[in-house]
Amino acid sequence: AGGTAESLRTPIVAVLGHVDHGKTTLLDKIRGSAVTDGEAGAITQHIGATAVPLETVSELAGSLVDPDDFDLPGLLFIDTPGHHSFSTLRSRGGALADIAILVVDVNDGFQPQTIEALDILRRTETPFVVAANKIDTVPGWNPQSDVPIQESYDAQSDRARATLDENLYELIGELSDHDFSADMYWRVQNFANNVGVVPTSAETGEGVPDVLTVLMGLSQRYLKDAMAIDVDGPGAGTVLEVKDQKGFGTAIDVVLYDGTVRSDDTIVVGASGDPIVTDVRALLQPRPLAEIRTESRFEQVDAVSAAAGLKIAAPELDSAMAGAPVRVVRDQPREEVVAAVEEEL
Ligand code: GTP
Ligand code: MG
Repeated sequence: AGGTAESLRTPIVAVLGHVDHGKTTLLDKIRGSAVTDGEAGAITQHIGATAVPLETVSELAGSLVDPDDFDLPGLLFIDTPGHHSFSTLRSRGGALADIAILVVDVNDGFQPQTIEALDILRRTETPFVVAANKIDTVPGWNPQSDVPIQESYDAQSDRARATLDENLYELIGELSDHDFSADMYWRVQNFANNVGVVPTSAETGEGVPDVLTVLMGLSQRYLKDAMAIDVDGPGAGTVLEVKDQKGFGTAIDVVLYDGTVRSDDTIVVGASGDPIVTDVRALLQPRPLAEIRTESRFEQVDAVSAAAGLKIAAPELDSAMAGAPVRVVRDQPREEVVAAVEEEL
């Protein structure tokens, strides 16, 4: 062997938007599980991470995505809460993301946290697609299960179509009022300059194939070079949550965005006091498609490579901070890694 093991990592996709506009339902649709049902008042209180392999993305996208056209391994979705009190969680999710979906209820239009999310996306220069969600609630809508939006359009009455179009143009106008040039996604030639709007229903699945197609296209075209990582390099990530893990003591939920973390690594974790230097006790990972936040059975693994959501159990993690960096100590003196973590905090 020798040399570095270059590989393309999974792009991280943040799902942002106003409370109740359908972020979690959209992810549920994508992963075929029902996190919404288990949530207190259906409000997302924490960031979760869900890995969706390329085969699943292309299965859901149907004829719109040919897996042979893509060499990225899939998409890692991060759900964020829309409730106004969780703005730190939203910025954390936005800052971690390579690309994003801004979910907007097509009847409700722009709301305070829609605008807040747009500001985060602007500040972090994150490319995004707008899911104009809940199209099935347009009066007279004739729901079509899991079909591309064009097929669904063709099945609608002129009246339903006209009502939807009116709402969509209002949305495009609001995006423009906030200095984002946007259009219906099938009219967008250059996604680097224009935001694509995709009509969706997270409930019926209409338009979901299109959202996945745009995300894969955005990733492949605009992120591919940035996704090249040294898989053998020291792992780097961000702490999402600190909590007790039965049988393992305190653990941190981490989104790993670079390198690899191994079960015998020493890690440095940002904390309320000095950074914590500790040895990994266990690496725990939910199965693909499972939701790290609700999955109770984790698999203990020897190593995890970016991008991924995982739990790291280790001694002395009690003072670890959500939002803080995590870095693996390897090829670099421990003091330098500690200094790097301090600087990132
Ligand atoms: P927060 O996490 O609290 O910010 O909300 P959210 O954006 O994750 O919304 P959630 O997915 O929990 O959906 C809120 C409600 O809207 C739920 O009752 C969903 O069933 C419903 N809903 C979401 N998407 C759709 C849709 O496309 N059509 C219809 N009819 N209902 C939807
Ligand atoms: Mg939610």
